[in-house]
Amino acid sequence: MLKIAVLVSGGGTNLQAIIDAVKNHKLTDVSIEVVVSNKEDAYALVRAADNGIASVCIRPKDYESKEAYGRYLATFLADHEIDLVVLAGFLVVLPENFVDAFAGKIINIHPSLIPSFCGDGFYGLKVHEAALARGVKITGATVHYVDKGCDTGPIILQKAVSVEEGDSPEILQKRVMEQAEWVILPRAIQMIADKSKLTG
Ligand code: GRF
Repeated sequence: MLKIAVLVSGGGTNLQAIIDAVKNHKLTDVSIEVVVSNKEDAYALVRAADNGIASVCIRPKDYESKEAYGRYLATFLADHEIDLVVLAGFLVVLPENFVDAFAGKIINIHPSLIPSFCGDGFYGLKVHEAALARGVKITGATVHYVDKGCDTGPIILQKAVSVEEGDSPEILQKRVMEQAEWVILPRAIQMIADKSKLTG
């Protein structure tokens, strides 16, 4: 059983996609052990509660340094015997000591086809605004491993989505979430769960 923690900051639609996939047995051998938010008012916490999943709010600003935050978060997740940390709309840049503690065990969903429209400042609607401003005809989403860079870790899965005439950033974001993010994030977790079953 792959024990996962899902880190969130906002609406939690990617978390919901994982919850639904587990519920519908489309995602097997995976247990969502805990949801961790950096925001007390994240609707993702309501989604966790509605589905009987433990959740906690751990705020970087409550710690005297980002290293102290990273240490606490790493200890908290280790105490929950977490095998995989899933960043699902999580907007905090994780400190290096945390990335070291969970090296190779952190994945992130980004709403573009990396290496396009990623890195510092590219998150949420800003990603889609940049794609529309550039005039790309195809965009999509990427699941990648998290390393010490910003959106620079090894790519696991990508899914393309067409940009339509007259798209607004909001319309494009919705299409990318529905057609790409909510599909490839559960799929990537299943790939990792299957691999861990083989390698033990
Ligand atoms: C969305 O823009 C998504 O593309 C990105 O984070 C934002 C919020 O996602 N990954 P969620 O609804 O909180 O999962």
